[in-house]
Amino acid sequence: MSWLSKEPRLRRTLVSAAGLTVGTALALAGTVAPQAHAAPGTLGAAAAANGRYFGTAVAAGRLSDATYSTILDREFNMITPENEMKWDTTEPSRGNFNFGPADGIVSHATAHGQRMRGHTLVWHSQLPGWVNSIRDANTLRGVMNNHITSEMNHFKGKIYAWDVVNEAFADGSTQHRSSVFQNVLGNGFIEEAFRTARAADPSAKLCYNDYNIENWTDAKTQGVYAMVKDFKSRGVPIDCVGLQSHFGAGGPPASFRTTLSNFAALGVDVQITELDIAQAPPTAYANTVQACLNVARCTGLTAWGIRDTDSWRPGENPLLFDGNGNKKSAYGATLSALGGSTGNPGGIVSGTVYSLGSVAASRVLDVPGGQTANGTPVQVWDANGGANQQWRADQNGDGSYTLTNIGSGRVLDEPGDQTGNGTRMQIWDGHSGANQHWRASQNGDGSYTLTNVASGRALDVPAGQSANGTPVQVWDSSGAANQHWNFR
Ligand code: G3I
Repeated sequence: MSWLSKEPRLRRTLVSAAGLTVGTALALAGTVAPQAHAAPGTLGAAAAANGRYFGTAVAAGRLSDATYSTILDREFNMITPENEMKWDTTEPSRGNFNFGPADGIVSHATAHGQRMRGHTLVWHSQLPGWVNSIRDANTLRGVMNNHITSEMNHFKGKIYAWDVVNEAFADGSTQHRSSVFQNVLGNGFIEEAFRTARAADPSAKLCYNDYNIENWTDAKTQGVYAMVKDFKSRGVPIDCVGLQSHFGAGGPPASFRTTLSNFAALGVDVQITELDIAQAPPTAYANTVQACLNVARCTGLTAWGIRDTDSWRPGENPLLFDGNGNKKSAYGATLSALGGSTGNPGGIVSGTVYSLGSVAASRVLDVPGGQTANGTPVQVWDANGGANQQWRADQNGDGSYTLTNIGSGRVLDEPGDQTGNGTRMQIWDGHSGANQHWRASQNGDGSYTLTNVASGRALDVPAGQSANGTPVQVWDSSGAANQHWNFR
């Protein structure tokens, strides 16, 4: 059996390309050759292939947003309620429990085969005033234990792991932070919370969860490590440590893997529980995934939200999907670090936003700042991360791509009926014409040659020119670096 007869998608592609020249059809075949084996195509499936989960924080109020829930159910197989299981929601006044918002998330998860992390039972923040004002130790002990028991009983059998205690250590210190629990009950409140939790639901994993415990030498990391070591040596029930992993643009610290494996060596699972990274550099995401994969007891990762617009870090764009639900470059890097693939042998992930770097010019494809009208000519310019330099690649039925400029919302376009060498490219409203379709074929250096389907010519920076503002044109394909574009 030939590879062609094994691949129905390819056969459809060739049929739809029947009106094109033989050369074009052959070039198309080159862009959609089948893979030897199918790698998983979603974060959840790729993580599962590694014996891990990939989760996200979910806000109950967003579940009715179809873009949001479509991504959630396609990509993620673990859910942490972002706020709905916190004390201010679940027990706003003493003994009055409200599990409605969290129940909505749990039923969604059950209906879609997703597991749940419970977040969180004992935390100094999002704590109602009535708890904060208790000064009597016996009263507070009773209130804390009743809260843990009631909430865990309500969700019994539905929670994979609970963040029993959250963020109990002080920043930059080996000691506990000040809180009503610490101040009224003393150091023993964490142990008491874990013992109560084990009694309430013996089948749930019990985690301690905190931020800034990713760098091994930090005092806070050492403080939490000492606590877990002490708990394990004395038989205090603890099963896992959640490292929140709210990272700056540099991503995880160099010691991250060491930290994960040192905690794991104490006999607990480790989980990356609230991952987000300022500006979402693809390498930073890939390094985070790799650190988890390198530690056998790192059982999964959870991103703290789906789209940048869902994030608690406004303006930092720290997540894997942009505000429109498009996959960002960090998504592709994360998926590929997990060993997954979109099934697109070209390696361009349809729906992902890229910058397109000219290999020869060392500058990126750019729509002049502030210009968004139909007919605006495109150029190369120093990369600055602006939306006028971001392009979403959406794969068309013929295997080619439409490249939509994020700043203008218009697409990379070869002016209608102009196909000659030297025709300057522009942006125009997308209408799916052949002059807006670009075939991508990968070069030996990992870059792509982009061939316009209407003209059959390649996207080209004039030979020898590389300055800011150099126009971008089409020219006969030559295989040279001035026709090579990196998707980053
Ligand atoms: O729902 C109310 C709304 O009715 C009100 O009008 C509005 C006014 O500010 O507030 C809304 O509540 C907000 C809530 O999120 C839901 O959107 C709170 O103000 C806001 O403080 C709360 O922020 C949450 C934050 O925890 C609270 O500390 C974030 O969504 C949530 O992402 C964040 O998550 C924490 C983890 O639980 C623990 N680790 C750190 C992480 C990030 O801070």
